[in-house]
Amino acid sequence: MILYKTDAEVELMKQSAVLVSKTLTEVAKILKPGITTFQLDKLCFQFIRDHKAIPSFLNYRGYPYTICASVNDVVVHGFPNNTALKDGDVVSIDMGVILNGWHGDHAYTFLIGEANNDVLQLLRVTKESLYKGIEKAIAGNRVGDIAFAIQEHTERKYGYGVVRELVGHGLGRSLHEDPQVPNYGKRGNGARLKENAVLAIEPMINMGTKDVYTEDDGWTVRTRDGKPSAHFEHDVCVKKNKALILSDYSIIEAAEKNNPNLNTSYAQKTSALTV
Ligand code: MF3
Ligand code: CO
Repeated sequence: MILYKTDAEVELMKQSAVLVSKTLTEVAKILKPGITTFQLDKLCFQFIRDHKAIPSFLNYRGYPYTICASVNDVVVHGFPNNTALKDGDVVSIDMGVILNGWHGDHAYTFLIGEANNDVLQLLRVTKESLYKGIEKAIAGNRVGDIAFAIQEHTERKYGYGVVRELVGHGLGRSLHEDPQVPNYGKRGNGARLKENAVLAIEPMINMGTKDVYTEDDGWTVRTRDGKPSAHFEHDVCVKKNKALILSDYSIIEAAEKNNPNLNTSYAQKTSALTV
């Protein structure tokens, strides 16, 4: 059952989403070769606690960290670790908070230093596909319309692999609410959306095969072919004519641009993309 929010609740959820954006902005400021994802995890934990919120991933179904840090062929749910990040790494950071009882949950993929054109295109297209999905998050549409738009832009247009095993979701007082929001599917299928449904839309797109496997730690999801994967996630509120994006990429993107260790050459086209 989809739990629709009041306007006041949507306003509170915006605060939760923006706290995640602010935390991701802190990550964007300090990312550089040599830093470890374990350091990022500690920083994010402290930043969230300092803002009177609770890291929602920590202890969720036994998940042991504040952030998911998924590098290169890790698709999602990577454990932070003590490996130094290096030039060319594709680093996806996903995290959630609970603020005033409401969840924020979103993700961004960064690129350290130099990268080849294939990687640049993967990041650009994955971020574009998120906005293509968000364009369909309007009252009267169905979940399948969002799914189709994402799959169309990534799999059919570029031949990328859309991960099937993991999906976006409703968001509210719980991290995962109805409906599930897959990144593949048919137009006109699935639950019909009404105003003030809040969704976490999160394309997970592989450069190669769509097939993934989970490591023995029970969490780390990797691509079968070892090729890189990208993940962008926004929290959005369904509205009549145009979805309201609750999370805020603009502050993350500004920090990304100001950080000489991050590669933003993929971002030129997408930074202007809003709905
Ligand atoms: N970001 C993931 C999602 O959107 C949740 C990660 S699971 C956790 O569903 F255990 F890490 F919290
Ligand atoms: Co999510």
